[in-house]
Amino acid sequence: MTTAEPTSTQVIPTVDSAVPVQEPAPAAPAPPAPQTPQAPLAELEARDISCWFGDRLVLDRVSLTMPAGGITALIGPSGCGKSTFLRTLNRMHELVPSAKLSGEVLLDGEDIYAAEKKLTDARRDIGMVFQKPNPFPAMSIRDNVLAGLKLTGKRANRSEKDDLVEHCLKLGGLWNEVKDRLDAPGGGLSGGQQQRLCIARSMAIKPRVLLMDEPCSALDPTSTRVIEETMKYLAEEVTIVIVTHNMQQAARVSDQCAFFLASQGTPGVIVEHGDTVAMFQNPQDERTSDYVNGRFG
Ligand SMILES: Nc1ncnc2c1ncn2[C@@H]1O[C@H](COP(=O)(O)OP(=O)(O)OP(=O)(O)O)[C@@H](O)[C@H]1O
Ligand SMILES: [Mg+2]
Repeated sequence: MTTAEPTSTQVIPTVDSAVPVQEPAPAAPAPPAPQTPQAPLAELEARDISCWFGDRLVLDRVSLTMPAGGITALIGPSGCGKSTFLRTLNRMHELVPSAKLSGEVLLDGEDIYAAEKKLTDARRDIGMVFQKPNPFPAMSIRDNVLAGLKLTGKRANRSEKDDLVEHCLKLGGLWNEVKDRLDAPGGGLSGGQQQRLCIARSMAIKPRVLLMDEPCSALDPTSTRVIEETMKYLAEEVTIVIVTHNMQQAARVSDQCAFFLASQGTPGVIVEHGDTVAMFQNPQDERTSDYVNGRFG
């Protein structure tokens, strides 16, 4: 594939004036050409999710529908349970020995926690990008992208792998910067490039949902904007759920938002959720209004 990556100007959603509009986005990647047929976009629905660490209830009956092909932002003050909720969506919560959970997470209507469902299937179908970029530093850029492929159980020849590497690096908005050094180690990239490499690696498995926990919090503003731009193309292939503390980012990238809150030692709940522009311009709950306008948290 030889798709070029022209420059484009970002369209910023109209939001409340309390959320300042930023500079135009830096050079953005072009949408990559479609690759192999993609699975249909999937809806993710959490139903009555409660989470405990030991005896401590940290999330209380949280329900949220994350629409197929949409970008859902989870916002709220530190400690209100956003990461915990995100980790229930691909069964990572159960990695913590003291952790317990009740409720259901339906991927296209099927509960990923059902007895007959495998943990590995949930992790393959629902990928995750973490706050801190975590490529394999000594592995080549190319091999980093292909690293998760054995999870899919599919065999690919050299040229199919080449196509996949190019496609995923374009999705991650990194192709133009690394196409001449695919054999160089992933650890030699900048922090922002490493994060985009991790996005490319996640996409190579062809997940149906991509979870992102503050993916830009360790990055400079330019890298942040490049990743925000790539998310629009990613959303054509996957349903995205992103945790962010950056209200401008939530306003720029998400279609819908969920505001989490855990007040005075009570477990986290969703106070309000809905269309992002509506939530920023006309929040229904005073606490949402205070939070999105920077009055607490
Ligand atoms: N491994 C753990 N063991 C025990 N308690 C935990 C663990 N992880 C999180 N918690 C607790 O669960 C609650 C929710 O934490 P969580 O990390 O989900 O919050 P958050 O909204 O993601 O916060 P932040 O914005 O700071 O990342 C907090 O009270 C936290 O102390
Ligand atoms: Mg968190």
